[in-house]
Amino acid sequence: MKPRVYIETFGCQMNVADSERAATGLRASGYDLCKSIDEADVVLLNTCSVREKAERKVYTRIGEVRAARSGKQDLLVGVMGCVAQLEGEAIFDHASSVNMVIGTRATDRIPTLIERARDGQRRVIDLGERGEHDVWDVSPVERHSPHVAFIPIIEGCNKFCSFCIVPYSRGRERSRPASEIIAETRRLQALGYKEIHLIGQNVNSYRPRVEDGLEGFPGATSFCRLLRAVAATGMPRIKFTTSFPRDFHPDIVSAIEENPNLCDWIHLPVQSGSDRILKLMRRGHKRSDYLDRIQRIKKSRRRMALTSDIIVGFPGETEEDFQQTVELVKECEYDSLYIFKYSKRAGTPAASFHDTVPESEKTVRFLELEKVQRAAQIKIYQSYVGRTLSVLVEGQSSRSDDDLTGHSTCHKVVNFKGDQSLEGEIVDVLVTAAKTNSLYGTLVSGAAVG
Ligand code: 5AD
Ligand code: SF4
Repeated sequence: MKPRVYIETFGCQMNVADSERAATGLRASGYDLCKSIDEADVVLLNTCSVREKAERKVYTRIGEVRAARSGKQDLLVGVMGCVAQLEGEAIFDHASSVNMVIGTRATDRIPTLIERARDGQRRVIDLGERGEHDVWDVSPVERHSPHVAFIPIIEGCNKFCSFCIVPYSRGRERSRPASEIIAETRRLQALGYKEIHLIGQNVNSYRPRVEDGLEGFPGATSFCRLLRAVAATGMPRIKFTTSFPRDFHPDIVSAIEENPNLCDWIHLPVQSGSDRILKLMRRGHKRSDYLDRIQRIKKSRRRMALTSDIIVGFPGETEEDFQQTVELVKECEYDSLYIFKYSKRAGTPAASFHDTVPESEKTVRFLELEKVQRAAQIKIYQSYVGRTLSVLVEGQSSRSDDDLTGHSTCHKVVNFKGDQSLEGEIVDVLVTAAKTNSLYGTLVSGAAVG
């Protein structure tokens, strides 16, 4: 019998998508996938290295896995994802109980790597590139949800922001042919999926080598053409994340305006509101460039939700720089904001920058910004009361057995009372109350559309 494999995923949506892809390949090679460590013969940890805390978690988790299965001498443990790619062989030295190190582009070779480890080979490692004929497709049984699917359209990053490890862990940008993306969207639609997320570190830097699949679809950039092509499939809801400000062409907003199934949500990380810091971060955009893009979004005849990422305490960030970030956050009126304290990543340019902000000061700035955002967000969420939102019912709420939960097209969590049979349907919900991070409402129509 083939061994049973358990995959645990940390970090971003790209890792979720990679785990789904790894599971698809494993099952195609005759492996069984299981849902807990207790049943597993092989445990794969798909890791994240974007901040130090995430990276440290890997080593703790390896210890926990070994302790939980101390009776199973032949349990194989593999580290995949960003930490694997960056640390390579060093992982074996730090954690001698690890059998395999599987880089970010070795997903399709995992079955062979496991075979090698089972044959007794020690320190099995693959940090190689993707193969020419690697398969992006994911089997529906491996997807994280039967209603919402992630479709990677671009991998890697060429931007080299000075704080960020991603260009090193995920390599150069590679775009997937549009014809494949469209075919996958159609397959998912036939299977009953109601929502797809086109994902990538920078989706709007999408630049496929061939134009196949985009013929007949206009647009200022390949990404704008892709949005229109995917919208034409008729998939009920299409979201995309993450967008990079410098490459954010206003035609993206036009595409959303033209196509109701392109959702009214844009995630556009700004990182800082200070030009001095943006330059040190090597973001390639100024505060005013960013605000121009925001203005186009805000001016749209379709009301769009806007979310962002901010780093506080970047090396050299003064109180004045930070206040410029606070002002920008106030001005943008984000629907939601992910705030991070700067975390030094070895190998990135910013790791050698001096004049670091003390940890205590980072915390002060983090809390201040969080407070500013919360105040703005409460108002934004309140403004939804009395409005009817289209919600994809994703399941039961974890808070209450009577409540269903789902996301609106503007990517807000919406809870409401309803029968479980509505799961997977798109329904209209009248918003009756707002919390800081979710909305509450009552069902208006049953399975009306989609
Ligand atoms: N420190 C803190 N936050 C970081 N991010 C990326 N690198 C770092 C770092 N070194 C944040 C950015 C990015 C998000 C995914 O993670 O805000 O947009
Ligand atoms: Fe990191 Fe910048 Fe690339 Fe985003 S654009 S993944 S922040 S290097």
